[in-house]
Amino acid sequence: MPAGDARSAEVAFGPPPAGADQLVIDLASTAFEAAVAAAGVLLRGITGDLDIDTKSSATDMVSNVDLASEAAVAEVLATRRPDDAVLGEEGTTAGGTTGVRWVVDPLDGTTNYLFGLPQFAVSVAAELDGETVVGVVIDPSRNETWTAARGWGARLNGTPVRVAAGRSTLATALVATGFGYQAQRRAWQAQVLTRILPAVRDVRRFGAAALDLCWVGGGRFDAYYEWGLNPWDLAAGELICREAGGRAEPLEGRVIVAATKELFGPLCELLSEAGALDPPPGTEPRLW
Ligand code: IPD
Ligand code: CA
Ligand code: CA
Repeated sequence: MPAGDARSAEVAFGPPPAGADQLVIDLASTAFEAAVAAAGVLLRGITGDLDIDTKSSATDMVSNVDLASEAAVAEVLATRRPDDAVLGEEGTTAGGTTGVRWVVDPLDGTTNYLFGLPQFAVSVAAELDGETVVGVVIDPSRNETWTAARGWGARLNGTPVRVAAGRSTLATALVATGFGYQAQRRAWQAQVLTRILPAVRDVRRFGAAALDLCWVGGGRFDAYYEWGLNPWDLAAGELICREAGGRAEPLEGRVIVAATKELFGPLCELLSEAGALDPPPGTEPRLW
């Protein structure tokens, strides 16, 4: 078992609720198998040779490990669900005929991984008719497996998790965020941050969006926001946060906001006042 204390999909997701859809049960077990395979690649890659290239900017890196991890997920999907559609960050795409689409970030937190920082994950989500129904995020460094299926609740290593409802007001909230890879976008994100930082307890930028979302779900953060994410960064984590009792959705389709239910509205208001919805020209979000 390369990663996560949850030894099987049944343990990781918990027993399916009465009347659970057999398709969702199958998607959960496939997502688990694919994420475990990828987590094994990530762990083995730490001691292997790295081959690093860049993508959208000089700071947006991709490595042989990102590619090998995506290949491991693709292999499981091709074997178990050959007729489903796939969207993988590193280029795996398939059309599909079943109404199911897999959304995969094979290595979320690539910069951390390549600098030897233990904050990275694999994120695998299954959408059914456009709605995410299953999500698995494995954090191999901590042996933590986060899971959720729609209506089943969220779990960490098989134990149900909940957001930290009632713990914080906005002024005492611990808020996570992240930054994109384009210099102009980062300059604007830094400007927005100057308005957020004095209004909350503190801000964290740990560098893996999928884990930021899971950590809101598990109550480690009160809230998280980021502008310009891609579907693969957030599909699984968003469901996990929601199934843990949080609210996670894009603010006017642009900034993903995840928080306890009571902090969601106040944080959205603060973000709007801080100009988080008014990016400068040339920094169009790729969110959806
Ligand atoms: C990035 C991480 C980071 C977030 C960036 C993402 P990647 O994903 O999730 O925390 O701030 O917006 O692009 O490139 O490591 O898969
Ligand atoms: Ca990512
Ligand atoms: Ca990635």
